[in-house]
Amino acid sequence: MVRVFPSILAADAGNLAKEAARLEEIGVEGIHIDIMDGHFVPNLTFGPHVVAAINRSTNLFLEVHLMIYTPFDYVERFIEAGADRVIFHFEATEYVEDTLKYIRKSNAQAGLAFCPDTSAEMIPKFLDKCDLVLLMTVNPGFGGQAFLPEMLDKVRITSDLCRERNISSLEIEVDGGVNDKTAAFCREAGATILVSGNYLFKSPDMREAIELLKR
Ligand code: DX5
Ligand code: ZN
Repeated sequence: MVRVFPSILAADAGNLAKEAARLEEIGVEGIHIDIMDGHFVPNLTFGPHVVAAINRSTNLFLEVHLMIYTPFDYVERFIEAGADRVIFHFEATEYVEDTLKYIRKSNAQAGLAFCPDTSAEMIPKFLDKCDLVLLMTVNPGFGGQAFLPEMLDKVRITSDLCRERNISSLEIEVDGGVNDKTAAFCREAGATILVSGNYLFKSPDMREAIELLKR
């Protein structure tokens, strides 16, 4: 069964703590928090203090999606703030393996994200070194963009590799443009976690919208 993580970037920014509490009430399995630095992507969002504020208002599992350069330098601060999983970009650092190791050593789950333009050939080497692979289905930087269907191949390749190598614990997450139409393609391709922002937060009934993504 696929899981759905709402991306809090699409929530009411003036009421993030309340929004997190609302998500917990709805019964979501975790919250996706997009961290942008204005360099790796042309947009700015939250720092560790905002993650800490969200963490104070909910017991939900929190994952931070770091769209920042030198992610290694920020791992500790985000874990201290309450991140249960730290996801960073393959394209953002030369120290991918060290950063993955460091996150795991710090008792958090480690996720590695890949931008749409990065070849699927880069993925296999890391499958046994992380807890989650995040395959971007839009170019990172903004919510509300259109899903890139070509990315489904990457999801399929990653899912097939896990099966071949008997890696059952790796999560395959998709992020960007996930809605009631594109979710079905992602599930079929082998995604295990769907991140969704605008579709969920704009829906009149989020509980029902989540069910539609899972079905
Ligand atoms: C994009 C972010 C996504 C985004 C998803 O850079 O990483 O998590 O918030 O939002 P939607 O679902 O609106 O595309
Ligand atoms: Zn994200």
